[in-house]
Order: sequence, then C-alpha cells, then structure tokens
Amino acid sequence: TWTTGNVIEDQIEAIRAQVGTKRAICGLSGGVDSAVAAALVQKAIGSQLTCVYVDHGLMRKGETEQVEKDFVAATGVQLKVVDAQEQFLVALAGVSDPEEKRKIIGREFIRVFEQAQAEIIAEGDETGEPVEFLVQGTLYPDVVESGGGTGTANIKSHHNVGGLPEDLEFKLVEPLRQLFKDEVRMVGQELGLPEEIVHRQPFPGPGLGIRIVGEVTRERLDLLREADAIAREELTAAGLDREIWQCPVVLLADVRSVGVQGDGRTYGHPVVLRPVSSEDAMTADWSRLPYEVLARISTRITNEVRDVNRVVLDVTSKPPATIEWE
Ligand code: XMP
Repeated sequence: TWTTGNVIEDQIEAIRAQVGTKRAICGLSGGVDSAVAAALVQKAIGSQLTCVYVDHGLMRKGETEQVEKDFVAATGVQLKVVDAQEQFLVALAGVSDPEEKRKIIGREFIRVFEQAQAEIIAEGDETGEPVEFLVQGTLYPDVVESGGGTGTANIKSHHNVGGLPEDLEFKLVEPLRQLFKDEVRMVGQELGLPEEIVHRQPFPGPGLGIRIVGEVTRERLDLLREADAIAREELTAAGLDREIWQCPVVLLADVRSVGVQGDGRTYGHPVVLRPVSSEDAMTADWSRLPYEVLARISTRITNEVRDVNRVVLDVTSKPPATIEWE
C-alpha cells in the first residue's frame, strides 16, 4: 500500500544505492519540488549533498529567509547561498520586453548556478569523493510530458573557471519521479519541512521580474514585494489559500495614476490583483474573492506601500489571458 512513510523509505534506499559514496549537488529554488527532493536526498546521504541557492533578488518577501534559515534548520542540509542580486539588476537594467527579461533571468541564473557548482567541485571536501550527481525535483507529470527519458544532464559552462572541464556532466537523482504534486507535499510534510515551503503556491522561475510591467529596478521590486506580502497575508488570514491556485500581484510600473493620499495629490502606480482558480494552470478562471477581502487588501496596500495609489482586479480567465502578465 502507498504511504508517505513507504515512499520515503524506498527512496532513501534507492538514493543510497545510486549515489554510493559519491557527492551530489542540488539547486534550491524556494519551490516545493526542489525542497522536498533535497530533503529526501539529505536524509539518504547527509553531508554528501550540497545545495545551492541563488538569491537573484526577485523572490517574494521572506522567501530567501525561509530557505536560508527554516529549510536548513529543518533538514540540516549544507547550503551555499549566492547573493547575485546586483548582477541580476545590472543585467536587467533598461529592459522592459517580457521575453527579453525571461531570457536574461534564465541566462544569469545558469551562469551563477554553474559558477557555484564549479566552486563546490573545485573546493572538494574531506572525503575527496567527486561530485557526480545532480538532484532534480522532477515530478511524474514532467516525466510523462517529456516522454519518460532519464539519464544525464549535460550542462554547458558559459564561463571559464580555472582548471575545470568546460562541460560538467552529471548523473541525475530524481526521487520524486513517481509522485504527483499533492504527494510531494505529503512527503515534504512528513519530512518536517516548513509549512510555508510545503504549501507554497506556484511561483514563476523569473519571479517578480515578470510581475513588473516595465523595467525592473530595486525600488520597484521593493514596492511589489510589499504589496505582494500584504495580499498574501490577507488571503491567508481569510483562509483562502487552498481555494485559490495563486494570486499574482502585478506592478504596472510604466503606468501612473493620480490619487489623493495623506495631505495631497499623488502620481503613483497601480497594482493588479490576479487571483485565479485552476487545476493545472493550463486553464484558469478568475477567483470570485469576497469583497471584504479585496477591500482589506486594497486599503492596506494603498496605506502601507508608498507610490501605489490604486488597486485593480483582473477579471479575465485563461484563455484568453495567461495567469502571469508577462
Ligand atoms: P501562465 O502565465 O503561462 O502561467 O498562464 C502558468 C503557470 O506557470 C507559472 N509560470 C512559470 N513557472 N517558470 C515557472 O517555473 C516560468 O517561467 C513561469 N512562467 C509562468 C505561472 O505562475 C502559472 O502558475
């Protein structure tokens, strides 16, 4: 019979058999899948695993701390955090086009991640064992979608790190390959991961970078982070987390609107609330949130976030609109 306990035991055995005495690396994104995969592998091989977390500055409020502190405390994992905020901001400067932003964020991410990997490999550890494995949080639906293949990840190096091979070849460890999302959450819960990580709503890889319509700047990221945190707080307080699929908050940075705030006229920015219900994100409907909840979110955002003087609601389903604005 299927129990989370059995799944965990079986996977621990399988991971030990696969990895042996070699070392493994795992990238943490802050999302559920990579966190649960890393926790399982950590349980199986302990200090043979090193995790890498790239702080690109596009995370939501508190998320980096959840990984750096809570996840590490819950799992005891060895974590290398790379602060790449400045690098991402510089790369994104002056760019407003959504596809361009996505490309830049993806490219910078691979650069930073590979650099960190190379450093971990070059530093070695006291065992002298090579790093041969890369842990990935691939789920069953991903396996089906991609035709079921597995094997090695051939990750090309885009930069030169002295003395290291140009191409780093890893064998993959994918302990979640047989699981669906809800099962992954159950496994994560059983492994004692923080609630905020296990029940995290889907969040795009490019993060807040694609929730700012216009150029991404530090100031705009800070604004959006605050507005997003308020919306999430109020949705949680209203008990709506399980009801909605996700609720992107989007900063219309290239739009200005007139308001009256405090003792005068302001010329600020609107933010958009995009609450949706969905089964799989392929299609979605806009969530009919209670007016009182919307009112509270709107009042708090316009009171607490400087430069935001208007909150609007997106009432479009997918299709025709995508869930994210970019
Ligand atoms: P759209 O906007 O295409 O989004 O309706 C569908 C779902 O995918 C998420 N999303 C992403 N997730 N990397 C990700 O890991 C991405 O680049 C990305 N873009 C969108 C989005 O939040 C929604 O859940």
